Amino acid sequence: MRPPNPQRDELHQLLLRWYDRHARDLPWRKNPEPYQTWVSEIMLQQTQVATVIPYFERWMARFPTIADLANASEDDVLQFWQGLGYYRRGRNLLAGAQYVVANGIPFDAAGWQEVPGIGPYTAGAIASIAQNQPAALVDGNVERVYSRLTADATEPPKLTQNAWKWANLNLDHHRPGDWNQALMELGATVCTPKNPQCPTCPLKNRCAAFAIGKPDSYPTPAKRTATVQLQQTLWIARCGDRIATERVPQGEWWEGMVSFPRSQTHDLTENPFDPAWPKLAGTFKHSVTHHRITLQVACVTVENAADNYTWLNAHELNAAAIPAPHRKGLELAKRL
Ligand code: ADE
Repeated sequence: MRPPNPQRDELHQLLLRWYDRHARDLPWRKNPEPYQTWVSEIMLQQTQVATVIPYFERWMARFPTIADLANASEDDVLQFWQGLGYYRRGRNLLAGAQYVVANGIPFDAAGWQEVPGIGPYTAGAIASIAQNQPAALVDGNVERVYSRLTADATEPPKLTQNAWKWANLNLDHHRPGDWNQALMELGATVCTPKNPQCPTCPLKNRCAAFAIGKPDSYPTPAKRTATVQLQQTLWIARCGDRIATERVPQGEWWEGMVSFPRSQTHDLTENPFDPAWPKLAGTFKHSVTHHRITLQVACVTVENAADNYTWLNAHELNAAAIPAPHRKGLELAKRL
C-alpha cells in the first residue's frame, strides 16, 4: 500500500471532477475494450482526434475484432490506413493482432509491452483504460501538464523521464484509466501548447508555472532538428489504360506500400522509361519528419509494359495503398 498523501488525493479529485463534466464524447470511449483502446491510441499517435474519428469508425466496421484483424492481409490494412500517415502503425497493429491471437490477451502493462508495436505509452493506455490496471502513461500532453504543474524546465528528452516518474508516483489507483485520460484531455483542451486556458483550469491553484505567471514558458522547447531539403521525381508512366507501379522497398519511407517509380533528383535525364519523352505535370512540397521534399511529377507514355513494373488500371489504383503525396502526384498527372 502507498502511504496516504492528501495533496495527491486532492489533485485526483480536482481533475477527475473536471473530467467527469468535460470529457469529450469520443467513439472509442463508448466501449473501452482492449482492442478499441489499442486501435484508437495507435491512431491518435501523431494524428488529431478529428481526423482519427472517421478512420476509427471505418476500421471497426471492417475489422470488428482482434481475430478479424489478424486474418486480414497487409494490403487490406494499409488501404484502411491510407491518408493517416506513418503507415508503420497500421502494419504494427496487424503484427500485434497476430501475436495476441497466438499468445492470448495480456492482462497488464508489462504483458502489453511484449506485443509487437506496443510501447510503454500504449501499454499503459490499454491496461489502465480498458483493464482498470494501475498503469501510468506519458504522451506529449501529459508531459506538458507535468512540466507546468511542477515548473520543470528540464529539456526533452530528460523531461520525458521526469514525467514518467511523476506519472508513476501520482497514479490514481481507483480510476487509473480516467485519471490518465483526464491528464491527456486537460493537455489537449485546456493546458494547450499555445494560449493555455488557465482561468478555466481545475488545477490552476496547484500549478507552479501559473503561480509564477509563466505557463507558456513550459516545457522548455526541444532543440530543433534542422530541416533537410530533398528533391524527388515521381514517374507516372502510362501504357494504354495502365500505369506503372512498384512496391516501396524495405527501409524506405512507406515501405511495402504501392508507389510509382521515383528518382532522387529533378534531373529528367534520369528517366527510367527512356526514350519516352517526359512531360512535367507539376511540382509540390510535402514533409516527412524533418525532411521537406519537393516532388516533381513527370509523365511518360510508353508502347510496351516493361515487366519490372506492376501495371495497374484505374480501378486497381483506386484500391491500392498508395502514400498520400504520391496519390496527389497521380492526380496531378491525370490533369495533364
Ligand atoms: N490522446 C490520446 N489518447 C487520448 C485519450 N485516451 N484521451 C484523451 N486524449 C488522448
